[in-house]
Amino acid sequence: MSPGLRREIINIVAAGVVIVVVGRLTGLTLELFIAGLAVYLVWHLFNLVKLIKWLDKPTKVLPESVGIWDELYYQLYHLYHRQRKARKKLKTIVHRFQSSTQALPIAAIALNKNNEIEWFNRAAAELFNLQHPRDVGNRINNLIRSPVFSAYILKKRPNDSIDFEFNHRWLTLCITPYGHKQFLLTARDITLQRQLDDMQRDFVANASHELRTPITVIAGFVETLQDQTESTDIKAPLEKIQQQTERMQQILEDLSLLAKLESGDAPPMQERVELAELLQLVHNDALILDRDRHELKLSTQPASIMGNRVELEMAISNLVTNAIRYTPERGLIKIFNTVDEDGVHVGVEDNGIGIMPEHISRLTERFYRVDPGRSREQGGTGLGLAIVKHVLERHNANLYIQSMPGDGSLFRCDFESFQQEQDKTEAA
Ligand SMILES: Nc1ncnc2c1ncn2[C@@H]1O[C@H](COP(=O)(O)OP(=O)(O)OP(=O)(O)O)[C@@H](O)[C@H]1O
Ligand SMILES: [Mg+2]
Repeated sequence: MSPGLRREIINIVAAGVVIVVVGRLTGLTLELFIAGLAVYLVWHLFNLVKLIKWLDKPTKVLPESVGIWDELYYQLYHLYHRQRKARKKLKTIVHRFQSSTQALPIAAIALNKNNEIEWFNRAAAELFNLQHPRDVGNRINNLIRSPVFSAYILKKRPNDSIDFEFNHRWLTLCITPYGHKQFLLTARDITLQRQLDDMQRDFVANASHELRTPITVIAGFVETLQDQTESTDIKAPLEKIQQQTERMQQILEDLSLLAKLESGDAPPMQERVELAELLQLVHNDALILDRDRHELKLSTQPASIMGNRVELEMAISNLVTNAIRYTPERGLIKIFNTVDEDGVHVGVEDNGIGIMPEHISRLTERFYRVDPGRSREQGGTGLGLAIVKHVLERHNANLYIQSMPGDGSLFRCDFESFQQEQDKTEAA
C-alpha cells in the first residue's frame, strides 16, 4: 500500500473517532457524521475538477493539494514527464530515419495492402513525378501506368526484381514485404549501366562481325593449301591452323548469337511448344553426338510452354552437350521435364565431374570456365551457358544449377506454366 493511501485511511479513521467522541458528548453523532461526509465529498469533488482541468492542458506546474491528492498529482506528473521524454525520443528517431531515407539515392515507396501510397522519399518523387501530399493515399498503379508495372505490383512476389522502363529511364524494381501487409517498393536507376551494357554489346557484335570475313578468307586459303600440298611436314601445321580457325569461327558465331539474344531485336516468336516432342528431338540428336559413350535417359510429362522453339531447342541442347562433355564415359545423363504448382521444369542431370560451389554463380558469365584447360580440350569456349541464360531470360524463365564435385550436376530451366502466363497477361 502506498504511504499516501495509508495516511488517508488513518485520517478517515481518526476523523471517525473524533466524530463518535464529540457526537457522544453532544448527542449529535448522525449530524456530525453527515457533515463530515459532506466536507470530505466536496474536497474530493474540488480536487477532481482541478485534476480534469490539468489533464485537459497538462503543464509543468502541478495543482497544489494535500493527502492522497498530492500523491496522485505527483505520480501523474512523473508519468506525464516520462511520456514526454519517450515521445521526444521517438520523434527524434522518426525524424532521423525519415531524413536518412529521404537522402537515399534509391527511390523508396511504402505501400499498403491495396497498393495505396503511404509514404515516399525524395528520390521516388523525382523518379516517378510524385507530389506530397497530393499522391499519398492514391493507388500506385493509377499513377504509374504500365502493364508491366501493374502485373509486377499485383503479383507482389517478395524480393523478385524486374527491370522496367519509365520516362526514358531504366529502373530495377524490387518489392519487400514489411509490417502488417505493407510493402516497400524500391527503384534503382540503372540507365547508365544499361547504356554501358549496350555499348559493350555493340562493340562485341561489331568486332565479331568485322572478324568474320578475314577468318572465312583464312579458312578458305588453308583448305586450298591442304588440298594442294603433299608434304606431311606442312600438312600437320595446316591441320592445326584449320582447327583453330574453326574454333574462332565457332566463337564468333556464338558471340553474334549472344549479341542478338541480348539486344532483344528478334523477340521470341510466341508459339506453343510441346515439351515431350522437343525433348525427344534433343534426345535423338544427343544419341548421335554421344556415340554410345553414356547412358542417355529421357522421361517426359505432357506439358507445353509459350516461346520460341528454335531458341528453346538450342538452350536445352547446350545443357545436354555440357552433360556429355563433362561426364566420364559410361556415366548416366537424364533429360526430363516435370510439371508442378510452380510451373514447368526442364532439366538435364548427369553423374559427371560436378562443379565446386564457388563457381556455380559465375557459370553463366561469358567465357567463364571452371577448368579452362579441360574445357578447351573438349572444344568449349565458355559461351554455352551465357546463351542458355539469355534464352531463358527471354522466356521469363530461370536457370537453377545444383552440383557437387564427383556427384554430378543438375541444370534445370524453370518456366512459368502456360496458365500462369495467361493469368499474368490478363492481370496486365
Ligand atoms: N554438366 C556439367 N558438369 C560439369 N561442369 C559443367 C557442366 N556444364 C557446364 N560446366 C562448367 O561450366 C563451364 C561453362 O559452361 P559453358 O557451356 O558456358 O561453356 P563450355 O561448355 O566450356 O563451352 P561452350 O558451351 O561455349 O562450347 C564449363 O566450362 C564447365 O567448366
Ligand atoms: Mg557448353
